[in-house]
Amino acid sequence: MSESPVPSFDMGHRLMLGVLVSGRGSNLQAIMEAVEDGRLSARVAVVMSNKKEAPALELARKRGIPTLFLNPSDYPDRSGYDEVMIQTLKMYGVEVVVLAGYMRLVTPMLVQTYPNRIINIHPSLLPAFPGLQAQSQAIAYGAKVSGCTVHFVDEEVDHGPIIAQTAVPVLEGDSEASLTDRILAEEHRLLPRVLQLYAEGRVNVDGRKVLIL
Ligand code: GRF
Repeated sequence: MSESPVPSFDMGHRLMLGVLVSGRGSNLQAIMEAVEDGRLSARVAVVMSNKKEAPALELARKRGIPTLFLNPSDYPDRSGYDEVMIQTLKMYGVEVVVLAGYMRLVTPMLVQTYPNRIINIHPSLLPAFPGLQAQSQAIAYGAKVSGCTVHFVDEEVDHGPIIAQTAVPVLEGDSEASLTDRILAEEHRLLPRVLQLYAEGRVNVDGRKVLIL
């Protein structure tokens, strides 16, 4: 992980967010509500998706937030795709990129363009259960505790420095759906809180360790 300092912002600065989504958009919704309530000093500058029908796009549109569907099949490779994404993020003055249910690998080029400026939310306590269906993985493994992780994105999947985590119990008889709901409720609290810490310049990265000032 590069040692790029996390930028500090002036008091009253509104963090310009670019949110990448692929599906439902409940975390995007949590971010937009936190902005509206004044809990998060930010503006969602643009929402981009690799899925045309992602309900998240409609949630953003309803609030007048610019959205863009980028069709992966229009690009010869991932780099070409991410290049357009980077151009768009720059055009909207995005300072921090949030992966909120974005189900596509990002290229090293994107990571290097936004070092310590891409934040992902994952529905397990990393490093346990990275990848897809983290909630089912936790149930199948017999874990007694799972949760969610907000972390910086590096060049490996679900791997970058951990900013914050919330644990939830895995209960006997939990289904994938019931554990998902319990974790999701915590995701919606944790992600806006972390973004606000970032907006306040309180998130400091030292190698793999993230210190909250
Ligand atoms: C969340 O569980 C998130 O942790 C994971 O994908 C899911 C996205 O849900 N990365 P939503 O689209 O935000 O509702």
